[in-house]
Amino acid sequence: MNEHSNPILSEGVTVDPDALPTGETKRRQIRSLFDTIAPRYDLVNRIMSFGLDVRWRRRAMRQLNANAGDLIIDLACGTGDFCREISKRGMVPLGFDLSMGMLAAARTDAPLIHADILALPLADRSVDGATCGFALRNLIELPGFFDEVARVVRPGGRIAFLDASPPENRFLRAGHGLYFNRIVPLIGGLLSEGRAYRYLPKSVAYLPEWPQLRDELIAAGFRDVERTVFSGAHLFTATRSDTP
Ligand SMILES: C[S@@+](CC[C@H](N)C(=O)[O-])C[C@H]1O[C@@H](n2cnc3c(N)ncnc32)[C@H](O)[C@@H]1O
Repeated sequence: MNEHSNPILSEGVTVDPDALPTGETKRRQIRSLFDTIAPRYDLVNRIMSFGLDVRWRRRAMRQLNANAGDLIIDLACGTGDFCREISKRGMVPLGFDLSMGMLAAARTDAPLIHADILALPLADRSVDGATCGFALRNLIELPGFFDEVARVVRPGGRIAFLDASPPENRFLRAGHGLYFNRIVPLIGGLLSEGRAYRYLPKSVAYLPEWPQLRDELIAAGFRDVERTVFSGAHLFTATRSDTP
């Protein structure tokens, strides 16, 4: 079966790697896409990022600056990378993800919950902090997501979110684009599902620029918003304000 004849996803959902769907169509496509690539997600991820994603998560944990014993939710936890880092530091992890396939492939002892992170099954101000890795572009809306995180994190609680961010330097940006638009789909096609790995680099187009992200976080009720830039990714951290 070749890439073009393959109805690749579960639930009868197909992916047009060149389209950027919105709303419920996007949500269903994303869930099916991750169900499909889940079994080889970790392998492809490590190869694609040269293992840098592991370092970035450790850095995110340091900058989260939470305490042992704190309840930290990992939003869109996938196969549990952040949950393991949270446990290692003596904090209590709780993971949430939309894809049953990703949850089934997870390698963590943390409790994992099948849920849409835009509507968390948690009480207001019930957690001490939140992490999120490489998931923002998959959501059907960001301001609503930041509002939802602000609802469940207690005042003074911390968040650390990692995501893709193309380099600002135009030469590095060109190299980065070439790598993600040509090499990543090749690697994904060899080891997993090519069409999904053609869509994923393109979906970076959903991500707003940093000033907009920062403004949306502040509007949702976060303060001390800070950004650390890596090559091809960025980390942003913030503290939940005391006021609603
Ligand atoms: C690129 S993976 C990242 C997984 C993990 N955070 C990591 O750092 O490796 C994106 C994850 O977001 C999840 N996801 C996408 N939309 C979601 C939503 N609305 N609610 C919960 N999880 C979602 C996907 O199922 C997938 O596991």
